[in-house]
Amino acid sequence: MDLHEIIVMQDIIELLKRTKPFVENRERASHIKVKGPADYVTKVDTDIQNFLAKELGRLAPEIQFMGEEEGLHEMSGDTYWILDPIDGTTNLIHDYQHSVVSLGLYDKGEITLGVIYDPYRGDVYYAQKGKGSFLNGNPIHVSDAAALDETIISIGTSPYDRELAEENFKRIQRVFDKSQDIRRTGTAALDLAYVACGRTGGFFEPRLSPWDFAAGMLLVTEAGGRVTNFAGEPLNLLKRGGVVATNGKVHEELMGLL
Ligand code: IPD
Ligand code: CA
Repeated sequence: MDLHEIIVMQDIIELLKRTKPFVENRERASHIKVKGPADYVTKVDTDIQNFLAKELGRLAPEIQFMGEEEGLHEMSGDTYWILDPIDGTTNLIHDYQHSVVSLGLYDKGEITLGVIYDPYRGDVYYAQKGKGSFLNGNPIHVSDAAALDETIISIGTSPYDRELAEENFKRIQRVFDKSQDIRRTGTAALDLAYVACGRTGGFFEPRLSPWDFAAGMLLVTEAGGRVTNFAGEPLNLLKRGGVVATNGKVHEELMGLL
């Protein structure tokens, strides 16, 4: 069975858009639980995860489900959804208005579908393996910057792993020195979407989880860019690790500074 015959991209997009009222619920966002150092979950996160787990199960009952709020656990099948119900939970708590819903489809060792929904701007970024990347129905491409001094680079601080900070802030300084400027959105999924549509030339963060990068990595590669770990190797889709995503042209230069 070809999964992409049973999954209709438009159905997935419409489903993700139905999470907007959850994100707008400031009362639910004030119910906060601490998961770890500087790591929080709100009732908005869990409401969205429960809603999408149920609705995705209805759309495609044969596909299993893995969500951030269940953590990383062994999946028995070959195919499952990887969901980050809110990427940018700290932003959500502070009403910083940079948080997205990120959904990837893992199928036999690769990500074959990715959708990132930005409820604040009403934007939907999506990609399917071999079919290109799109923003609200229009094709998107990575930037054509040939060097770091022609572009801006977004960075992640891996806030839950503070032992990585000292080395990472040194990297950020080096990249700042060679690029036009650096940015920090507070949502890795949106950072990857911005690389895919050419707003930034690249993004790096020393440790992310599969739900943070699953959809975004496909968006970047389908938009013509490159995604690796900090050693320049393909990402392990089932483990936490560093992520470097660029338009391809500045990848080596950026890697040389990390
Ligand atoms: C976090 C965001 C943030 C990144 C962290 C992620 P969460 O995801 O993507 O930008 O710096 O490493 O864990 O916890 O808000 O889903
Ligand atoms: Ca996340």
